[in-house]
Amino acid sequence: MRIDILTLFPDMCEAVLGDSIIGRARVSGAVEIHCHNIRDYTTDKHGRVDDAPYGGGMGMIMSVQPIYDCYRALFDDCSEKPHVIYMSPKGKTFDQKKAIELSGREHIVLLCGHYEGIDQRVLDEIVDEEISIGDYVLTGGEMAAVVVTDAVCRMLPGVLSDEICFTEESHFSGLLEYPQYTRPAEWHGKKVPDVLLSGHHKNIEKWRREQALLTTIEKRPEMLKNAELTKADKKFLESIEYSE
Ligand code: ADE
Repeated sequence: MRIDILTLFPDMCEAVLGDSIIGRARVSGAVEIHCHNIRDYTTDKHGRVDDAPYGGGMGMIMSVQPIYDCYRALFDDCSEKPHVIYMSPKGKTFDQKKAIELSGREHIVLLCGHYEGIDQRVLDEIVDEEISIGDYVLTGGEMAAVVVTDAVCRMLPGVLSDEICFTEESHFSGLLEYPQYTRPAEWHGKKVPDVLLSGHHKNIEKWRREQALLTTIEKRPEMLKNAELTKADKKFLESIEYSE
């Protein structure tokens, strides 16, 4: 998969995406990520990339020309139109389902805004969807682009060491993850649940699933409506007399 980030602050994105698991995935070739500086494409002799809003008002608006030329330059090394996403608090809220969907695409472009926004005409011309990472306003789209890139990349083959890492984790099957423990078996008087020390894999699996259900009920009960529940899950919920 290839991800291109169009931004005025490529170093901000590189600082995060050049390190740790995603940094290693780039080196191994599991994913190709490029951060482009929109300013490199401006034709303004003073290097400007923004201007005052028509109709008046506060702040500056990012101009069409450098963004469009930065986007068009991608076509020098790819023939198909990539899926273009504008990082914006007006977008649909990002979630694990969207991360899985985007990880199935060949090529996405994440466009980061700054200042008071981007001239609507270039958005209308190149953007396929808008994504928000939550109901709050950031100073720019970079941190949102990094969040989306991280969540998408970790779903790609060869990025995490073992597929089990994400098939059992929070949100994957619509439930939150069960609690995890490691050595020592007792700490500050708190013991690791006996079943985890039993070596009985079937019982461990059952306990973990039930704990995932209980954790979800406690922390995010609204998630249960859309979770993929098995017959055993429903039986367990009945046994604890759970009702929405
Ligand atoms: N840009 C500014 N705020 C944002 C948000 N919440 N999500 C995505 N992009 C943004």
